[in-house]
Amino acid sequence: MKLSSFVYFAGFGIRAVLFRKKDPILGTIIVTDRCNLKCRHCSVNNITGIIHPYRQIRNEMEYLYAMGVRILFFCGGETFLWEDGEKRLRDLVIEAKQMGFLIVNVVTNGTFPIDLPEADLILLSLDGDRKRHNRIRGDTYDLIMENIRRASSDNICFYMAVNRLNQDAVREVCRTARDMEHVRAVSFNFHTPYPDTKELALGRDEKAACCQVITHMMQEGAPVFNLKSAFPYLIDNRFPTPCHQCVVMENGKLSVCGRCIETAGLCEACGYFFVAEYTLLFQGNIRVILEMLRTYLKYI
Ligand SMILES: C[S@@+](CC[C@H](N)C(=O)[O-])C[C@H]1O[C@@H](n2cnc3c(N)ncnc32)[C@H](O)[C@@H]1O
Ligand code: SF4
Ligand code: SF4
Repeated sequence: MKLSSFVYFAGFGIRAVLFRKKDPILGTIIVTDRCNLKCRHCSVNNITGIIHPYRQIRNEMEYLYAMGVRILFFCGGETFLWEDGEKRLRDLVIEAKQMGFLIVNVVTNGTFPIDLPEADLILLSLDGDRKRHNRIRGDTYDLIMENIRRASSDNICFYMAVNRLNQDAVREVCRTARDMEHVRAVSFNFHTPYPDTKELALGRDEKAACCQVITHMMQEGAPVFNLKSAFPYLIDNRFPTPCHQCVVMENGKLSVCGRCIETAGLCEACGYFFVAEYTLLFQGNIRVILEMLRTYLKYI
């Protein structure tokens, strides 16, 4: 991370903590909900199938920037399906950087060739070893591994949603992140139980067991892009929700924190690590602040 970006984020954090400000800093644009996969745990694919036009996405980027957002995620659906005329996902990333976003990340299922050197992080979903990943995501593991090997840059971070189908594969994913070229780290979430996937959610003890494995792997040197200081809050779902400093834009509609905010009762069962990490940070939790400084400086 550039020193100027670090100074900007530090200033924002200090103002948010001291004056309890709720201005957004992290924004996500959903470029499409169309997807080439139909993962077992996912409730947000192919609802409209619309690929949002370039002009609209560009306006959404400008809107978020004007609101103060400086960390931008492009998400889907499958982001690599996005196109409009000559424009591709890579053009959106480049334009976001030119516009002044300090961190620009993309979330993808990794089934398309990966050529996004301008992104700060490519969050690539890997949901276990071959067997467990394929059980959740169809027969895609080998294709994804090949795409990672051929990637044009080393800015990939695995993104694993831990649920009842893959909870035993956390160690394996940490090791793959540590050993694989082009992969910088792994970041975890627990399954968030949308009404149609409730049965996949982990219980308290299962979450505790996963956090124990992740902690152990961190101690062994695995590159984990999460904060262990937030684990106790994630295990018991006792972090504040929603995250007011995070916003999502989908088809012109702005939501605080996530699209999921409209699903009754979901926030109390939220499994997204970023929500715990950011809300605890902005509450002024000293352990979280110090660990976030160390972790972000290491991986971005
Ligand atoms: C919705 S996908 C969109 C981007 C891309 N298609 C992908 O799979 O990475 C973004 C991330 O959300 C995760 N996800 C989907 N449903 C989830 C749920 N109910 N709880 C937690 N994570 C979930 C996916 O595993 C993926 O890592
Ligand atoms: S690839 Fe992503 S958007 Fe598509 S079904 Fe899987 S989790 Fe959902
Ligand atoms: S479930 Fe609630 S707290 Fe969690 S990401 Fe969605 S909106 Fe935010």
